[in-house]
Amino acid sequence: MPYLIAILLLAWTLAVPAADVVKIRFSHVVAPDTPKGLAAQRFKELAEKRSNGRVQVQIYPNSQLYKDKEEIEALQLGAVQMLAPSLSKFGPLGTREFEVFDVPYIFPDKATLYRIMDGKIGKELLAKLESKGIRGLAFWDNGYKQIHANKSIKTVADLKGLKLRIQSSKILEAQMRGMGASPQVLAFGEVYTALQTGTVDGGENTLSNIFTQKMHEVQKHITLSNHGYIGYGVIANKKFWDGLPADLRAVLEQAMKDATVYEREVAQQENDRALAGIRALKKTEIYQLNDAERGAWQKVFRALYPNFESIVGRETLAAFQNATAGK
Ligand code: LMR
Repeated sequence: MPYLIAILLLAWTLAVPAADVVKIRFSHVVAPDTPKGLAAQRFKELAEKRSNGRVQVQIYPNSQLYKDKEEIEALQLGAVQMLAPSLSKFGPLGTREFEVFDVPYIFPDKATLYRIMDGKIGKELLAKLESKGIRGLAFWDNGYKQIHANKSIKTVADLKGLKLRIQSSKILEAQMRGMGASPQVLAFGEVYTALQTGTVDGGENTLSNIFTQKMHEVQKHITLSNHGYIGYGVIANKKFWDGLPADLRAVLEQAMKDATVYEREVAQQENDRALAGIRALKKTEIYQLNDAERGAWQKVFRALYPNFESIVGRETLAAFQNATAGK
């Protein structure tokens, strides 16, 4: 018993005074059981454990605190300290170059994508955020986008005339217009209701996002087109991040590195799980493009590339094309 009391006393004296605990509010728009949601949770666990309680990470999922646009404003104002918005949502910050990740059929495989994210191009993109008061910490993965609608989509021509929800990206807007569709920018948290009420006819998203937001309940068809990509930039308020004690910042940076490795492990798994889940419900018809159909889709989408130059810049697009060429 005296031994137990001694341990309790020691723990009490070692405990970090509440006033000294650094609190990180990490807001995001997706469900906890998605690649981003799971990685945010892993980051929290690693950061709290390895800092011995000097850091507390509060995660706010599912647009609970802020929707797409507001969350970036909140980060700049310091109302939250961390976010992981989709790379399609950095344009309003004045960094349209991030939208190069939206260029359809640009990534031949995940290995090439990770090489770009982790290499010179990725580092240069994150550095562009500094002047906006934002520190870029990492790139996280989700996966390829699929088309969802209430009508069967087998050819690109089937998209013509549809009102399709997009994220706030000029590349995505140009892509949808190029398909003869009418693009509608909506925050992620508004998509389910817009599909349910018919405000939009469909959209494009990863299977993990479709499944965890239950979009399949209000969409009769999904076409496995893998035509586009969703990934994330994990970002922090720069003033906050730079103001952290150096040893604590090092702990958080390592926690972020390890959470990023984990994130890439679970991204594919979560999308596979979502596909199995949607299939098992037998309510949504899932159409898999065959090789000839995929070839035809790629041809139509790739013909739009010249239109993208003025959005992300000729150099950024060329750098991406060089990095993915021949893969
Ligand atoms: C979307 O708005 O569809 C996605 O960016 C949501 C997300 O964060 O994956």
